[in-house]
Amino acid sequence: MFDGKKIREDFPIFNSNKDLIYFDNAATTQKPKQVLDALQEFYSQCNANVHRGIYKIAVEATDEYEEAREKVSQFINSKIEELIWTRGATEAINQILYAWALWNLKKDDEIVTTIMEHHSNLVPWQLLQKNGVKIRYVNLNGDGTLNMKELENSVSKKTKFVTVTQMSNVLGTINPVEEIVKIAHDNGALCLIDAAQSVPHMEVDVKKINCDFLVFSAHKMLGPTGVGGLYAKQEILEKLDPALRGSEQIKSVSLFETEWTDLPWKFEPGTPNFADIVAFGYAVDYLKKLGMKNVREHERDLTKYALEKLQQISKLKIFGPLNGTRGGVISFQLADIHAHDMASFLDDNNIAVRSGHHCAMPLMKYLGISGTTRASFYIYNMKEEIDKFIETLEKAKQVFKV
Ligand code: ALA
Repeated sequence: MFDGKKIREDFPIFNSNKDLIYFDNAATTQKPKQVLDALQEFYSQCNANVHRGIYKIAVEATDEYEEAREKVSQFINSKIEELIWTRGATEAINQILYAWALWNLKKDDEIVTTIMEHHSNLVPWQLLQKNGVKIRYVNLNGDGTLNMKELENSVSKKTKFVTVTQMSNVLGTINPVEEIVKIAHDNGALCLIDAAQSVPHMEVDVKKINCDFLVFSAHKMLGPTGVGGLYAKQEILEKLDPALRGSEQIKSVSLFETEWTDLPWKFEPGTPNFADIVAFGYAVDYLKKLGMKNVREHERDLTKYALEKLQQISKLKIFGPLNGTRGGVISFQLADIHAHDMASFLDDNNIAVRSGHHCAMPLMKYLGISGTTRASFYIYNMKEEIDKFIETLEKAKQVFKV
């Protein structure tokens, strides 16, 4: 285990904002100086476009860039050929839509997903309805966990694709993805895991999960914005044409034809966000050094502590599992205080949380609410901060007279 207080010393944001309690980690995380330095060093020492120039700094830049791929692919236990850089999880999902789903899913085929998905794993698939594809949504149990019986009953031989989040960005629910992948495969469907909220917080092993696709974003795990990962099984990628087309993804081009280059570069046209990708490698180094088991343990500890205290506040409703397999995301509603008023009040007390629908409008509708206030934890958070958060919620009850 590690000490959140010690870790904070690596994060300049807490130096500039001494009293900041940052509980919006599901939206984006803060960056350690190791990542900021890596970015500064890259631009200062070897900035050059990658996979193009043959001069010294271009070779150095390319080596650093590919080293980041090695680090991140090891982190999720994929092959190097199977990790494609994208601008984030949303773009990665869209690439699967345009490279695979639109070409392979036909009228009367079915997709199975869940009511707890982020818009990024929901809006793209709606496009397939134009081709007559049917989307089936699996509902929740009363405690905010996924109704696995319903999922099993929803997946059939008509199902060509199952797509689920590994961890809900609203409820904190962690879904049994290995079991879900097996159900999909037993019915001949492929399976995508939206791991935007899980890869940053727990050990994720794509081989163990055995998913066909998995997506995540760097900025939610100490890395820069504008970088994401798309994992797909090599045998699938080999058969696909890229969704995005342009430069440096080719072996040869003639006027009417293109021969793609090898994996993973076939899927990476144009100048990639190489400096940020290099810095992302350093974010992963930082997490590896802490150990993902310890990261998970730290958050489990904070979440248990927070849930216990929150449950003692009268008129406070928590959305999501109160125990069991869940992550460090806690959505709540305090009496009839509007979620944005609550977030503003917390902000007046230097506590940063997110409020609103959290890009999960269908889930809000399902829960019969317009939004929640959400606190989400990470490695630099501490129990003292949760104490202050709880005190502030008690204060809110007095101020709002609820
Ligand atoms: N998906 C991010 C969140 O849940 C932005 O806040």
